[in-house]
Parts: sequence; C-alpha cells; structure tokens
Amino acid sequence: MNYERPQFFHLMQYAEAAEHDVVDMVSGNPDWEPPAALRDGLREYADADPDEFQYPPSEGLLELREEIAARRNVAPSRIVVTNGTGEANYLAMAAALDRDAGSEVLLADPVYPYYPGKTELLGGKVTLVPTERDGSIDPARFREAASEETGLILVNTPNNPTGAVYSRETMRELAALAEEMDATLVSDEVYDHFDFTGEFESALTLDSDRAIVTSGYSKSMAITGFRVGYAILPERLVGGAKTRHMLVNVATSRPPQVAVLRALRETETEYYESVRSLLRERVDTFTDALDAAGAEYSRPDGGFYVLARFDGFPGTMANAERLVDEAGVAGMPGDTFGSARDEWLRFALVTPRVEEAAARLADYFD
Ligand SMILES: Cc1ncc(COP(=O)(O)O)c(C=O)c1O
Repeated sequence: MNYERPQFFHLMQYAEAAEHDVVDMVSGNPDWEPPAALRDGLREYADADPDEFQYPPSEGLLELREEIAARRNVAPSRIVVTNGTGEANYLAMAAALDRDAGSEVLLADPVYPYYPGKTELLGGKVTLVPTERDGSIDPARFREAASEETGLILVNTPNNPTGAVYSRETMRELAALAEEMDATLVSDEVYDHFDFTGEFESALTLDSDRAIVTSGYSKSMAITGFRVGYAILPERLVGGAKTRHMLVNVATSRPPQVAVLRALRETETEYYESVRSLLRERVDTFTDALDAAGAEYSRPDGGFYVLARFDGFPGTMANAERLVDEAGVAGMPGDTFGSARDEWLRFALVTPRVEEAAARLADYFD
C-alpha cells in the first residue's frame, strides 16, 4: 500500500506557503481552550511517581473506562480506550468485517474520507449511498443499496461535513437494517457535544446488540493532539477489538488518559455550553456572509463545518487553491468527500477569524 498524503494536509501546506494572509478553514483543530481541569491533570501528572509512567492496562485505565461507562450507561467491560476516535473506528470496522458476514461497507455520501480508506485497508468494499439535499439520511436508500454482502453500515452523527444530526428514527431503522442483513451498525459520534438542536441521541440508546459506538475527546475537549477516544462494542465483539488494539498499540498513552479523566470528573456543563454558543455565533456570522455572497449552504444542526456552493465554482482542489490565492480563504474541496457534494466547499469554523473570512468570500463572489 502506497502512502497517500491526505488532501487536507496538502491544502493546509498550500495555504501556509502562500505569501499573503490566508484564513485557514481547512483543519478540524478547535481554536478554543480545553477544560481547565485538563491542564491541571497534565500538570499533576508531571509530578507523579515513576510507576505511574509505566504501561497502562491495554484496554485503557480502569478508572477512565468506569467513568465513560457510567456516563454512557454500559458495562466498563464493553469499552476499549483508543488512540482517538480514528482508532476506535478502525477497531469497530475490523470487528464488523471479522465476523465474515459480508465485506461490503455502506457509507453515506458525502463521506469522511478516512472511512473508505479504512475499508480498503481492511479488505472491504465501499458502497456509497447518497444523502438528501439537507444532509439527512433516507434509510430506504440504504435498504436499496444493501445486499447479501453487506457486513457493515457506518454513519457519523453529528456529521462531518454536512452538519446533519440524524434522527432517532433514522438510527433505529439503520440498526434494524443491520439486523436484517446480519451486519453491524457503527455510529461515529465524535461530535456528540456539538448538537445545536437538542435532538441528538447516541446509537447506544437503541440498545441494539448490532451497534458499535465510537467517540473521543479530540473535539469535545479541544485536544486533537492528545489522541484519546473509545469504542463501545457488544460483549461478543469486544474481545477481538481489545486484541487488535493490544497487538497494534500495546496501549493508549497514559498521560492524556489521566488528564481526560480529571477533565471528565471536574468539568461543568457550562464549559460545553459556552463552546456551543461560540459556535452558534460563528455559524450565524458565516452564513450571513454566505447569504450576502449569494451562496447556497447547509446550516449545521451539529458539528462545526459549513458546506457552501458558489455558482460556477465547483469544489475541486484547483478551485480550493484558487480561493487561497485570490480570496485568502482556505476551505476543503467537496469532491474529497465523495461525489454527492462535488459542487461544494467545506469551511471549518475553528478560527476566531470567521467574520473576516466571511467578508473575504462575500467580496470575492460579489
Ligand atoms: C467524523 C470524524 N471521525 C473521526 C475523526 C477523528 O477523531 P479523533 O481525533 O478522535 O481520532 C474526525 C476528525 O476530524 C472526524 O471528523
């Protein structure tokens, strides 16, 4: 397998190399503060006894797994603490495909590009199922696309890049379809704290023994560099996931687990609320400017991305580079997320300069 540099790396480097000022709306790196308790946890860890610097249990620190279990109302034995949601997704997908119940993977289009990449890595076959114009999923389309070979249905809610939050009914129907097809449903919920509708419900509440839920703290605690996530699997699949995690990683690094545990215990809901309200303001600012620019866009119900479509300016890498050069704004081309949004560009609202970027876009497309 050759190394393929992710497209967002390319674009971020392209933007950095520009000689003029560019507002970066490519990365998914939050620009706000992590919870204060997270920094406290890290500081305290620096002075811990040397034995605290040694291998943690492979499946994750017991206290962290217990804390997650209590919050998610599941047994700690079902949890593996991973190197971010990225690894949790890999373990979940491997668990589904290891069942030999079929190698076809149904993914919603537009798609988070690492999903097709991981599918290939695991020897699976991708079938993309288009979402609706508003980003929602019509389970009937998944039903039509499903075949005897379907082993996995993987969705992400709240969604990157559409900002859709799937309804409980949608998730219930997808779980039922997985059951009928003898497949597994994986729900990537890494943006679970960024629900602006109050409608989001984890797939865990479906109580389906077909469902695996993945999540992590990269976004909710603004720590994409820490690499702490988790997968919650049905008891019959968790052993395989723990083995794969152990053989690939030995364990997830201990210091960030300690810091995340402290932050989970000590962070009040106000922290998460204040981030949501910051993002709501940014969504308003940005979409007002998109209105001024005459663009079509999706107003996110969750997550922190906005998809926008400018007439006569399709979402290709060449156009994304042109936008860097001529407007001083960097956004991801929609065609990197499958084919359903190849006319669109995705802008991440993780910069304090949203207003400036919005004004530049409004000027450029005026
Ligand atoms: C849908 C989705 N899943 C997973 C990830 C990776 O998360 P983590 O940093 O926890 O590995 C991202 C990161 O942008 C994402 O957008």
